Amino acid sequence: MTQEELFKNLIAHTKEYGFIFPSSEIYDGLGAVYDYGQLGSELKNNIKRYWWDSMVRLNENIVGIDSAIFMHPKIWEASGHVGAFNDPLIDNKDSKKRYRADVLLEDYIAKLEEKINKDVEKGRKKFGEAFDEEQFRATNPNVLRNAKKIEACRERMVAALNANDLDALKQLILDCEIVCPISGTKNWTDVRQFNLMFSTQLGSVSGESGTIYLRPETAQGIFVNFLNVQKTGRMKVPFGIAQIGKAFRNEIVARQFIFRMREFEQMEMQFFVRPGEELKWFAKWKETRLAWHKALGIGDEKYRYHDHEKLAHYANAATDIEFDFPFGFKELEGIHSRTDFDLGRHQEFSGKKLQYFDPETNESYVPYVIETSIGVDRTVLAVLSGAYAQETLENGEERVVMKFHPALAPVKVAVLPLVKKDGLPELAREIMSSLKYEYNCQYDEKDSIGKRYRRQDAIGTPLCVTIDHESLNDRCVTLRDRDTMQQERVPIEKLAEIVDKKVNLKYLLEKVR
Ligand code: GAP
Repeated sequence: MTQEELFKNLIAHTKEYGFIFPSSEIYDGLGAVYDYGQLGSELKNNIKRYWWDSMVRLNENIVGIDSAIFMHPKIWEASGHVGAFNDPLIDNKDSKKRYRADVLLEDYIAKLEEKINKDVEKGRKKFGEAFDEEQFRATNPNVLRNAKKIEACRERMVAALNANDLDALKQLILDCEIVCPISGTKNWTDVRQFNLMFSTQLGSVSGESGTIYLRPETAQGIFVNFLNVQKTGRMKVPFGIAQIGKAFRNEIVARQFIFRMREFEQMEMQFFVRPGEELKWFAKWKETRLAWHKALGIGDEKYRYHDHEKLAHYANAATDIEFDFPFGFKELEGIHSRTDFDLGRHQEFSGKKLQYFDPETNESYVPYVIETSIGVDRTVLAVLSGAYAQETLENGEERVVMKFHPALAPVKVAVLPLVKKDGLPELAREIMSSLKYEYNCQYDEKDSIGKRYRRQDAIGTPLCVTIDHESLNDRCVTLRDRDTMQQERVPIEKLAEIVDKKVNLKYLLEKVR
């Protein structure tokens, strides 16, 4: 199965089993907006709980808040979002389709890279064992020509983006002879900047002054509450404020399923430190966050750091944790050392002091900030794509199994009476009642036991409990493990303890303590 097929199958699977649906589907959907179904929302809640507990419960010096989505519009001027949260856009006059200019150029580069790869594969077939890829890439005229085109395009694109030179971007699109994928023409408008924030009107105020924004990140709700939390919580630097919440961005290129959405959720933590100590804390959070991801057991090789060479003007260190999604390594989380930029700007724009008096040094200062910022939906996608497997069993049967970490699995235990009669459903209900206060359990008595196992595999349930006639006499049940498919006979009295050991979030948290 190619990665492309895997991705297609995964999207279909998540819809078929109630993880994720396109939003407003009966009205033909709404671009880049998705709904979480009955299993998707359980999975998402488990991920959020894992993040929240690892931040707020495991660290005495981190507390959590829940700030409003609507905020004073001046906040977005102070943060720089009104002035600089832009994408360069270009329209094709024939198809009336709008594109991000830099994405058109990236796609052009990707096509050239594909051509190079095809030439390399041709060479490999032609020369067989004797093929020297390095030499081929360094000497083949087709490869060299395309590599030169890529380099020239990239150089001009970076220069134009850095200089915010929109005319140069348009000229580059024309020089590369890029056509609209819909109309096939080169009939382009000029490139314009487009702000990604959604705006709306506050009820009681009309006109321009009533315009407010849907927050494009949750971080600003933390910055503007810095002193409220510090004072009321008697927090001492270094300390952190965590928040999980919705964010909104009018993304122009919204694709790759829930990777880039217009309405999404973030889990952000701002860690306030003494000026001069920020790089030490940056290194610590970089390591801590990678360990959090790796503890999920998807595979250490699936993650890598991408350290930023070019830093935003307010940052003095930045890295992304990238995940190997079915469409390649892409950003999953950002960790940034943001200096005193945000608090400093809010101090300036609000006219209120946002300083901390440090009792150890007897000094007042604006703390420096390390930010960890991760998308909930991207984590859901990483977990889904890491879990999805198609397997052929010993008896030749096929199964699709979602190998979620048990602590994240939407349903923890399936309770299955072998038949719908003879008192087995009653005993099964008794078992359900004893487990359901702790864990999300599912009762299923329809179809053969084999079919029921397949259904539970497909939604990633770690444990199935089967009740048979013998259970009525010996009060033992068959416990089946999702991954090994091993079955063992266990006393009903021991079930709660066994289930707890397997699925309790506590054991996952212990790994990242
Ligand atoms: N406060 C910093 C901040 O918002 P960001 O890199 O723009 O930084 C942080 O976003 C994280 O939010 C990303 O690493 C990604 O996981 C998630 N994210 C950003 N835009 C997204 C979108 N359109 N759809 C889904 N997730 C998104």
